[in-house]
Amino acid sequence: MIVEKVAVIGSGVMGRGIAHVAALGEFDVRLHDVERAALERAVRNIEQEMNKAIKRGRLGEEAAKEALGRISTTDDLREAVSDADLVIEAVLEKMDLKLEIFGKLDGWCKPEAVLATNTSTMSPTEIAAGTGRPDRCIAMHFFNPVHRMKLVELIRGLETTDETVEVARGVAERMGKETVEVNEFPGFVTSRISCLVGNEAMNMLVEGVASAPDIDKALRLGLGYPMGPLELADLVGLDTRLRNLQYLHETLGENYRPSPLLHKLVAAGHHGKKSGRGIYEYDEDGNIVR
Ligand SMILES: NC(=O)c1ccc[n+]([C@@H]2O[C@H](COP(=O)([O-])OP(=O)(O)OC[C@H]3O[C@@H](n4cnc5c(N)ncnc54)[C@H](O)[C@@H]3O)[C@@H](O)[C@H]2O)c1
Repeated sequence: MIVEKVAVIGSGVMGRGIAHVAALGEFDVRLHDVERAALERAVRNIEQEMNKAIKRGRLGEEAAKEALGRISTTDDLREAVSDADLVIEAVLEKMDLKLEIFGKLDGWCKPEAVLATNTSTMSPTEIAAGTGRPDRCIAMHFFNPVHRMKLVELIRGLETTDETVEVARGVAERMGKETVEVNEFPGFVTSRISCLVGNEAMNMLVEGVASAPDIDKALRLGLGYPMGPLELADLVGLDTRLRNLQYLHETLGENYRPSPLLHKLVAAGHHGKKSGRGIYEYDEDGNIVR
């Protein structure tokens, strides 16, 4: 199956990044969100990131212009997906919401279209089960920031066929990514590790083991992490991280009980870099100020 039209559902941190790399991969991209303001923010953000890449000499001006021209936006889900070959869902990490959306996608997409979820932790089998095409459903787990991170984890649900895996792999490669294939298990390979380390770092902060900058510096310089686990949690979004940990706590057990600090920050509306405040505080350009 040849994929030319990709629909991305949800235009938050991940959806806009997936739309960005899909456009650079020369796919026709339809980006959908229920909030028009989120769509406008997403397009602005993609433009800003492309401008940075032009300044650094990583992207030509003409290529950026063409890529932006390939992205169109709509707040109408049916319109976004009706002629898509592949749909990548990147809405909030809530099973009920993903089930509702996959049910609609199944009714509105072409019968041969592949339906992918960018869930960080949840079961693609369960997400696919409400559709009449579980063989054509898969998880494509991208990483944040999508335009910089090389990996896409491909997670097979129980009935995902080899052909569906190959379609997803081909699309990821055309987006400039490498893939690993993972059998379904909560948190896959990456989120299972990353959520555990990030949660432990928050518990260390609560216990007063070290300051946030020193915990992050220790893991960067001492253990070779490219980014500290607290900075990473802020980048992921603390609301998203809390939902990830709640799911992993339910499915994998006590090791994943969300840190009380995470609950407190989310309750206060401090969702990390995207809201200007999380473990750290950020200026308008996203630099840590405190
Ligand atoms: N943030 C990360 O680092 C990261 C990394 C990998 C995977 N993920 C996964 O990607 C998914 C999205 O996470 P995010 O960080 O982009 O979240 P986000 O909160 O930044 O964005 C979610 C977007 O979905 C939109 N939305 C909500 N309900 C919708 C609906 N019914 N239809 C269409 N759009 C709707 C919201 O308006 C919002 O723009 C989650 O499943 C998350 O676990 C996140």
